[in-house]
Amino acid sequence: MFMFRDSAKALFLSLSVSLLLFAACSAPEPEALPRSPAFGANGMVVTANPEATAVGLQILQEGGNAFDAAIAVKYMLSVTYPIAGNIGGGGFMVYRTAEGEAGALDFRETAPAAATRDMYLDEEGNLIDGLSRIGHLSAGVPGTVAGMEEVWQRFGSLPFAQLIEPAIQVAEQGHRVTAFNAEQSNRFQEEFAEVNTQLPLFVKEGGWQEGDLLVQPDLAETLRRIRDEGAAGFYTGTTADLIVAEMQAGGGIITHEDLAAYRAVWRPAVSVAYKNYRIHSMPPSSSGGIAIAQLMLGSADFDFAALGHLTPESIHLMTELMRRVYADRATHLGDSDFYDVPFEMLLDPQYIRARNADISMEAATPSSAIKEGEVERIESFETTHFSIVDGAGNAVSLTTTVNSFFGSKVMVAGAGFFLNNEMDDFAAAPGVPNQFGLVGGEANAIEPGKRMLSSMSPTIVERNGALYLVLGTPGGSTIITNVYQVLMNVLEHGLGLQQAVDAPKMHAQWLPDVITLEEGALDEAGMEALRALGHELRVIPQIGRVQAIQLLDDGRLKGVADHTRTGDSVARGF
Ligand code: GLY
Repeated sequence: MFMFRDSAKALFLSLSVSLLLFAACSAPEPEALPRSPAFGANGMVVTANPEATAVGLQILQEGGNAFDAAIAVKYMLSVTYPIAGNIGGGGFMVYRTAEGEAGALDFRETAPAAATRDMYLDEEGNLIDGLSRIGHLSAGVPGTVAGMEEVWQRFGSLPFAQLIEPAIQVAEQGHRVTAFNAEQSNRFQEEFAEVNTQLPLFVKEGGWQEGDLLVQPDLAETLRRIRDEGAAGFYTGTTADLIVAEMQAGGGIITHEDLAAYRAVWRPAVSVAYKNYRIHSMPPSSSGGIAIAQLMLGSADFDFAALGHLTPESIHLMTELMRRVYADRATHLGDSDFYDVPFEMLLDPQYIRARNADISMEAATPSSAIKEGEVERIESFETTHFSIVDGAGNAVSLTTTVNSFFGSKVMVAGAGFFLNNEMDDFAAAPGVPNQFGLVGGEANAIEPGKRMLSSMSPTIVERNGALYLVLGTPGGSTIITNVYQVLMNVLEHGLGLQQAVDAPKMHAQWLPDVITLEEGALDEAGMEALRALGHELRVIPQIGRVQAIQLLDDGRLKGVADHTRTGDSVARGF
């Protein structure tokens, strides 16, 4: 049951301050984004969107803690970053309090009660193309609103209304779309028109331009119901009615009962020691924490610093570690509330050592020799991550998504938000790849109420027992390997955080048996050296977009946004 903590008067006063600030700066003309790194002694916010960073900073400056700021950022992203920021999706938060307690919140979507193991297969057992990726049937039960309520109830210090009101104001008064948001909206005009029962306001004749004003009155009303009734204002009542009506109109299966039954779950973080560091990341239903832990534990047995940063040798070795970790992911990982995930085995250094014992520096191990399967591609790289640290030292690392860009492309008519297409993250059929080319089996099979396996990896690192790094990234299956490389860049190769984030990345995931290199990662001679070891390579323009914070030795916070890749990432501190 949602309870307000403060008197209506106190709420009104603090709201007035926020509203004045936001009314004064609503819908500003686009301006150049500040470049990172940013520095601050009292707080730092790094997000993928200028309005979201601004509101996070504002909440910290108003005396809120990192958790308050995270809630405000999360709701602002649902308005100003509809590509991935959401109330129709889900995500994961890893936190570390100022007192040093680490933990995790799982607000991943769940399969509706009517979901079945073979719901995306035809009579011959073949996957029906697109059914799990676009349209009403691809949506899981959203988790974001329940997740934010959990965060507020456990850690919030400011009135909830103060945290969500800026998002309501921006939805109602409008904001100027960035070039990136305009471009992404334009890419999906046809899909928006095709799958929706009523044309959403994202369909715009002539397309979107940078600086266009986007006003979202239905979304403002939905957010108001959340402000006034808490999660009940989303999972029951008018919003729930609108979601269920949308489902019925479009052939989806989410019901009132599914919505009312949704719960976010607090879980222990996956925490492992690496030299004098301790790494906290996300447990299942994300694979991220276990996979990153396995990669770091495996790396500890090799001298990466001697192999060098982005050399053919270090890329070969990382690939060998990654393909074994992703084979484990496909076999052993799924929602631990439904499947007996062998945590102890997967995180046992002896197990990892044995698994890596056949790595040769002279030749690639074919992925078929590790475990069989057939996979072709990796495609969409969306999702969004933000990192926040407050002046007291509370740290929040939060990754959230609707899966693909704009999720299922279905906007709930009358409610103004996109629904996720997270059902595609289940293994729709054993060995059949999802949009990220990931395969899975029994552990990640579809079951009613189950959470689909994720790669999201919000991560926090301690050094000698004190907060050191907060980081995460979008990027589907590349999230895990990207976070791992930033860790290795800083902890092993001695790069500064901005350089570590900006550096080109590589990715390998068991299947397909190929190394994906970001442009600029290796020159032609380096790529030839990898081919000579038996690796197949492909080069793509961009991998992920890390948002990170580092606690410096002098006590200041350094905020690093990724400006080398497309997007609107901004770090701001004070
Ligand atoms: N939807 C991408 C992920 O959760 O990993």
